[in-house]
Amino acid sequence: MTETDPRRFAPAAARNRDPILAALRRCLPDAGMVLEVASGSGEHAVHFAAAMPALAFQPSDADPEARASIDAWAAEARLPNIRPAIALDAAVLPWPATAADAVLCINMIHIAPWAACEGLVRGAAALDAMLVLYGPFRRGGAHTAPSNEAFDADLRARDPSWGVRDLEAVAALAAAQGYAAPEVVDMPANNLILVLRRLDAAAAGAR
Ligand SMILES: C[S@@+](CC[C@H](N)C(=O)[O-])C[C@H]1O[C@@H](n2cnc3c(N)ncnc32)[C@H](O)[C@@H]1O
Repeated sequence: MTETDPRRFAPAAARNRDPILAALRRCLPDAGMVLEVASGSGEHAVHFAAAMPALAFQPSDADPEARASIDAWAAEARLPNIRPAIALDAAVLPWPATAADAVLCINMIHIAPWAACEGLVRGAAALDAMLVLYGPFRRGGAHTAPSNEAFDADLRARDPSWGVRDLEAVAALAAAQGYAAPEVVDMPANNLILVLRRLDAAAAGAR
């Protein structure tokens, strides 16, 4: 971001966008609306919208500078299937979005208070949407790699309400809101994708 160019550049997004895209191609519906929560720079939304033209993308973020970046990337990409970014704080319900087939959230729940994760799950459930989460998680009460443990310590030092979340705690939260047990996809650099489908859709074998 500069004074004249609101675009932000997230090096991690450039690294992880293609592995995430490959996973999304397998789990998202063929068509419909994807609400992205905590879009950050907007580079993911633009990349995914370009690669999956049958899906519409609604990016969002709580931070106005992030929304300016998202809209600047989208304007440059000139894609018909990406909407202007909306102001959405995951923790504040009801959300300003009224319809979505899927809610996507990349690298937010560990860099926000637990209330943001609770709001994310409740907000997605209120839309009756599948929920796709990407990031580092603890499994079985333990970190999956020393690098994640160090990252967790760094996050908690920056803000005690932040931290790498327990997969089981997120799954329990989701189960209480009508989601089936997560499909867990191993991702590079010790990250995971959790695919949470509505119980009725999971029973019907939906994608
Ligand atoms: C680490 S960045 C990830 C951005 C992007 N998803 C990515 O992977 O590049 C975390 C983002 O979460 C957003 N955020 C933090 N708390 C939030 C909340 N409660 N609701 C919505 N967005 C939030 C921040 O503004 C920031 O853009």
